[in-house]
Amino acid sequence: MNGTRPTFSDFFKSYYYSNTFLAPVDTSVRGLSKHILNDETATTAQNLISQEGVQEILSAPLTYTDENKIEENNNALKEKGFELLSKKSGKEFYSVLKHESLPGRIIKSGAARTEEGKFCIGPTNDRNEMAIFTKEESILRIEMADRIRKIARENNINVVVPEKKLVEYANSENTLDPTRKYCVICEEVEILSRDETLKNIENMDEQGQRKIAKDICTIIKKAGLVDANLDNIRLNKEGQLVFLDTEPAGLMVAKKRGFLNCIFQKGASVEKCARIGLSTLSKNCLDRMQEVVSGQSFANEVNRELEALSQPKLSKCKIVLSIFTVGLLPLIYAIAAYAKTRFTARIAQKIQENHNDINKLHPLLFQFYKQVEGVPFDRVASFINQEESVYNDDLKDLAWKANDTGQHKNKLPPTRSKKN
Ligand SMILES: Nc1ncnc2c1ncn2[C@@H]1O[C@H](COP(=O)(O)OP(=O)(O)OP(=O)(O)O)[C@@H](O)[C@H]1O
Ligand SMILES: [Mg+2]
Repeated sequence: MNGTRPTFSDFFKSYYYSNTFLAPVDTSVRGLSKHILNDETATTAQNLISQEGVQEILSAPLTYTDENKIEENNNALKEKGFELLSKKSGKEFYSVLKHESLPGRIIKSGAARTEEGKFCIGPTNDRNEMAIFTKEESILRIEMADRIRKIARENNINVVVPEKKLVEYANSENTLDPTRKYCVICEEVEILSRDETLKNIENMDEQGQRKIAKDICTIIKKAGLVDANLDNIRLNKEGQLVFLDTEPAGLMVAKKRGFLNCIFQKGASVEKCARIGLSTLSKNCLDRMQEVVSGQSFANEVNRELEALSQPKLSKCKIVLSIFTVGLLPLIYAIAAYAKTRFTARIAQKIQENHNDINKLHPLLFQFYKQVEGVPFDRVASFINQEESVYNDDLKDLAWKANDTGQHKNKLPPTRSKKN
């Protein structure tokens, strides 16, 4: 077997990693009331999204793999005069729209990324950590936009983050699920295309390139921005950075009821999301920049930041705590992480043997990915694989299989764990 099996010390060490988690976001009707669009365009927007044949498409869980359904939805919306702005695998996709009766606004579906009980896997990084999109992703992009604005302000970075608001579908007073109740209405801003953005960066002098790279990396690192590619981050004509697509990709989670949720519910750490975000930026835009001599300062700066961040940082506070408890706390943590990993593998094996129903693996996989922050995904995956040789596929392949949205959502091809 390969040599990436996680050792007990991997789990032990991961206790010491510095991980910052954000408080769950209140997505109840009351919690979201502050984001409701309240100007003269609100009624037009509501009428537009609540039309028969439109609301059904925009509020149902998005489908990424059923090509017939995608085409059907695309055509139905185009017939109603919508322009489709989103692209998945180079093809039109119905989640982001414009309409001439709503000038200056972009409509983004607030719908769930996946069907109930499934999860949608996102980008991975060089350490094979993985981001996981949550059901409320689309709604949470509003909070994430606020977070990016705040981080930019605190670090004196000049950015444009389009304002995002919610509009309720007509006759949805009794709907509680926010993904079925709201659409996101976004301020349309002037942006350069991805290619123009790259060209403008390449045309900057060395200092300018370093500055812009540093600014983007600071936002990614401090905000925990995962989907950090130049489709989502652009320049405008004034040279300002524009953050268009602000889905938190698992960094933020919607608050759930219940005592245990109150204590244990959390998204991915800012640190892990930052590691994935920097790696995404590096992979997505730097291939080209490495070739173009004029863009190398930008590329080098991003790579330097990526390298500096690629190893999780140790938390001083946890080190002190571990000294006080004579190593007992990290030991308990490591044993629990180790046990949980084995436990997950057992249940997964049972499901595989008894039901062969890949969908039942979803909650397990989800729980599993979330529990060990900082331990490379491949190591944990290969651990399960080695311990429970019942699998023909390794865990990551199972995740891709179980998750039919993954390949389309994730712009990068999945990195497969190495097998002998
Ligand atoms: N506020 C905006 N102003 C101008 N153009 C926008 C704005 N938001 C999005 N667009 C355009 O729409 C395209 C798709 O938007 P976005 O990146 O938010 O969604 P996506 O990544 O395609 O879909 P999703 O995030 O829902 O999976 C962008 O590449 C951009 O061209
Ligand atoms: Mg995007």
